[in-house]
Amino acid sequence: MENLDSVDLEKMKILKDYLKNFKDKPRVESNLITILHKVQDIFGYLDRSALEEVAETIQVPTSHIWGVATFYHYFKLKKPGKHIISVCLGTACYIKGADEIIAKLKEELKTDVGGVSPDGLFSLEEARCLGACSLAPVVMIDGKVYGNLTPQSVTQIIKEYKSKHK
Ligand code: FES
Repeated sequence: MENLDSVDLEKMKILKDYLKNFKDKPRVESNLITILHKVQDIFGYLDRSALEEVAETIQVPTSHIWGVATFYHYFKLKKPGKHIISVCLGTACYIKGADEIIAKLKEELKTDVGGVSPDGLFSLEEARCLGACSLAPVVMIDGKVYGNLTPQSVTQIIKEYKSKHK
């Protein structure tokens, strides 16, 4: 098992408690999928150590679990960034320059859509209309909407988020 910090250890404890429910249950696929959903709920993605724990508890090879996990697009296999940035690429935002905003974010965060910045701080995602078209172009960060953006203002916003982690 990899080195886990205290937050991860707490999460692992929650998972172990949950897995007790499956110890004597039949090893059917639907149970595995239910468990994977729980792992993602707890960790935010399918943490490798957590999957090893699942494999050991329900006596299923890890390779099989990875096979199931990669089959379903719903499951996240990479640890998300601390902040989730959704860039709106809906029509209103696109007309108002969302392509420039996303290009700037890719440059600032050194990652592509669907990726995580190398410092682990940001996940970059795209969305189709965040319901704030009058503020186009729009970006949502951890559920907070930022509107009327320019490449300069989005750079400033990212700078502010980064400064919280110094
Ligand atoms: S199109 Fe971007 S918020 Fe509606």
